[in-house]
Formats: sequence, structure tokens, C-alpha cells
Amino acid sequence: MDRKKIFITRKINSKGIELLKKYYDLIFTNTPDAPSKNVMLQKVKNVHGILCTLSEKIDSDIMDAAGSNLKVISTYSTGYDHIDICEATKRGIYVTTTANILSEATADLTLGLILALSRKILEGHLYIIDGKWKKGWTPDLFLGSNIYGSTLGILGLGNIGTAVARRANGFNMNIIYNNRHRLSKSIENKLNATFVTFDQLLENSDFLSIHTNFDKDNFHLIDIRELQKMKKTSFLINTSRGSIINEISLIKALKNKWIAGAGLDVFEKEPISNLNELLKIKNVILLPHLGSATVQTRERMSKVAAINLHNILSNKKPLSLVNRELLQNLC
Ligand code: DGY
Repeated sequence: MDRKKIFITRKINSKGIELLKKYYDLIFTNTPDAPSKNVMLQKVKNVHGILCTLSEKIDSDIMDAAGSNLKVISTYSTGYDHIDICEATKRGIYVTTTANILSEATADLTLGLILALSRKILEGHLYIIDGKWKKGWTPDLFLGSNIYGSTLGILGLGNIGTAVARRANGFNMNIIYNNRHRLSKSIENKLNATFVTFDQLLENSDFLSIHTNFDKDNFHLIDIRELQKMKKTSFLINTSRGSIINEISLIKALKNKWIAGAGLDVFEKEPISNLNELLKIKNVILLPHLGSATVQTRERMSKVAAINLHNILSNKKPLSLVNRELLQNLC
């Protein structure tokens, strides 16, 4: 019997690939770069599964080009805003993610941004590298602000938000949060987290960290009105998706000192253009979408993406399914 075919859109950690090799014919692009749509349209023909990353837009054209064999799209990411879920569900195509696997790594990076922003870690490093440290210890050199005792606002207390809250408790931060749905009292108590309205979150956070999933309802959720509500001393951190913040408005807020700074791991357009004004603004830390970028996390993501794919093609439940309405068709 012919082996089923899987299209792997780009070079990812090899752990999962080794698992898939045993059962499937694998079609690669063999480059670490995201393929163009044209390349994908060619490679995807007649495949039963696609293993993609967050940079590849998987829309109805790609699903059409794959044809009726296509049963599963397994993304090597937690976010799935790059996949047309409605279209996939209509066609009975399962969409799976690596949800939960990268929460701890992303939470670590979030705390890294909070620490680096509030304690001016990058400025200090550059000061030495640039040969400017001439006078030894100085009473008012790079004075930052306390993390201890400050208020952390978490927008979206899901898996990653929860991992951030656990770490913030270690720093003795006051934790407030806003979610689409309020969490149970017992979870709130366990995390020392207080539910507040969206506006209260904006007004009271010293650090506002975004961890909500991106969808059409929260496009530019943080815009002029929201930025003007934030404290002048506050920092905005985003490790979720760039389009939750209106970047033009954020640049205005930073230039006009409506807020004290921002730590951004995600952008409206990735990679960020070298003309983007964020590059010229002080008190901003920019990272090239590194949330899940640890060796251990990427290994687990690779395995989980492969297991999800194999489970669906073996008619078994995957570890994390987006279109759960299709679950009833699986054993
Ligand atoms: C994801 O997997 O959605 C993250 O953004 C990767 O860092």
C-alpha cells in the first residue's frame, strides 16, 4: 500500500521528523526560511498532512491545491491565526497546535523583558561596550524601577499568562488580570491574581503583559485610547501577536512618553522593516519572535507536532485540537 504523504513546510527541529519518517513519505522544502506561496502550492499536491510554522499562511488556496486527501494541518506553534480555521473545519481538516508546550519558555522570556526594561539591563551593557563607563560606581547611573511590589497586569490569563503569574509571585508582584472569562476563585487564589475590568487593567498596571490569543476581535485592541489610559511610568510587554497592538499608536505613545517603554517579541509585520520607527526609540527592547526559542522547547514542539499529525492520520485524538467540533469523528 502507498504510504501517505506529509508536506513539511520548512526545516524544523528533527525529533518529530524522525518519528514521521517511519510511517510517511515526507516532502520538504529543506530550507529554514518560510516558503513562498508558489512553492507551497507546488509541494502540497495530494498530501494527507501539512506540518507548518506560524509564518506560513494556510488558506483555501493551499487546501485546494492539496486536494481531498488533506486531513490534518499540524502547526509547530501555539498560535493558529495563520490558518483559516473556518475553511479547514468546513472541509473536515483537523488543525492541531503545540499548545502548552511553550508556555514556560515564553513566560521566561516575558520576565526577561520585564527585568531588562525595568532595570535598564541593555542600556547598561551597551554603556560598557561603547567604552562610556569611566567613573566606577555612580549614585544615579541607570536608575530603574522596582519589580518587587509593582503591579503586573496580565491580559489573557491562559497557559502562558498563568506561567507568567507563577513567576511574578516569586518577585512579589501584585497580579491583576483581565480575560474574556473570569477564572474560578480557586485558580485566582492559587495565582494571587485579582480580576479587573479591561480599563482597570490599563490604568493600574506597572507592567502590562499581553498573553491573549490573536483573533479578529482583538485586532488593535491596544490603540490610542488604551495607551492614553496607561500610567506614564508603565511598560507594555507583548510576546503574543503583534497585531493586538496598533504599532503606529504605540510609536506615538512612546515618543510622547504616555508610557515609559515597551518590550516586544512580536510585530505587526515580521520581520520588522529596518525603517520601522521603533528602531529609533529609546526604552524599547525588540526581539525577533523568540518566545519559544529554547532547544528543549523546540524539541518538544517538534515531537508534539509529529504526534498530532500521526494521531489524526491514525484516527486517534491529537494532543491539542483547535477545531474541537471535529473531535467526535475520532476514536
Ligand atoms: C507560537 O508558537 O505561537 C509562538 O508565538 C512561538 O513563539
